[in-house]
Amino acid sequence: MIPDIISAIRAAEQTALDDISGATTLDDVVALRTRLSGKKGELAGLKKRLGSIESIDDKKAAGQAVNEAMAAVDTALDARRAELHAHALAERVEAERIDLTEYVRPSSRGHAHLVTQAWERLEDVFVGMGFRVAEGPEVETDWHNFEALNMPIGHPARGEWDTLFVDHVPPGGQPGTTVLRTHTSPVQIRTMLDEEPPIYIIAPGRVFRRDTPDATHMPVFHQIEGLVIDRGITMADLAGTIEVFTQAYFGPGFHSRLRPSYFPFTEPSAEFDIQRPNGEWIELGGSGMVHPNVLRAGGLDPEVWSGFAFGFGIDRMAKERHGIEDLREMYADDIRFIEQF
Ligand code: PHE
Repeated sequence: MIPDIISAIRAAEQTALDDISGATTLDDVVALRTRLSGKKGELAGLKKRLGSIESIDDKKAAGQAVNEAMAAVDTALDARRAELHAHALAERVEAERIDLTEYVRPSSRGHAHLVTQAWERLEDVFVGMGFRVAEGPEVETDWHNFEALNMPIGHPARGEWDTLFVDHVPPGGQPGTTVLRTHTSPVQIRTMLDEEPPIYIIAPGRVFRRDTPDATHMPVFHQIEGLVIDRGITMADLAGTIEVFTQAYFGPGFHSRLRPSYFPFTEPSAEFDIQRPNGEWIELGGSGMVHPNVLRAGGLDPEVWSGFAFGFGIDRMAKERHGIEDLREMYADDIRFIEQF
């Protein structure tokens, strides 16, 4: 009887282990646990039969065998459950994985503002020609914005720049002498005061004028200033620099010309125009030889140093380049407009 019951225990254990390794879901494992280790399970049934064994030793041996079998079944159930759980988790992770690259469609990627694009290209071209980028403040003193540029108080040319004043009186200063810079030319003065020549700088930046927005004017816009100070600089250097810039920025089919003009801070002064390959001329900006009074305001001796300066609108460049009809469109943040570029 003993060998019988022991082999029955072994057989029940083996069947149970086979069933467990055949389980394919966590639910299967739960069902098997109820069937195999519960009170109605086969091993439990065999355990009950131990009471009828008479020999103490036999009873002990059979009892040990049944306990071992039950422990083995429990261990197998736990192991199988852990295995299936890990598997289910891996499947879920895979199913719920988000492919982040899927959402970066080229059409949903933004781009820099048209003015920023023009600004950066202008910097690239001028830096390529040997210029360095300089900066100045947007809130300026009347002195830097006008007086040092050969426009003393009451100078009629001041009226050309519709000035926005800032309600701020500097310590020891006069009311009405703080302005939003009307052009980037005050950076000429700051640079001359800050560093020794030779000076080869460009100064892109934001400028302000008391203007009502329309197709060709904005109260806030952008200019780029150029300043060269060295020994023996002439008008030919100015013309050559503008021509090299024109072809580098616009392309080999483009040309430039200087036209006599007037600015208080340059003498002689010239406007410069760009000619498209189709022969059409576009007015671009102002330029000229730096006025001796301006050199002196910048702390330089006009007998030693000479130079040229130029300045033009960045927004205008972007407008021309992209054939935009109305400047205001560039600032309206209308996605239908922006997406065209
Ligand atoms: N500052 C001038 C303007 O705002 C442009 C300019 C710059 C002209 C430098 C001559 C020299 O119109």
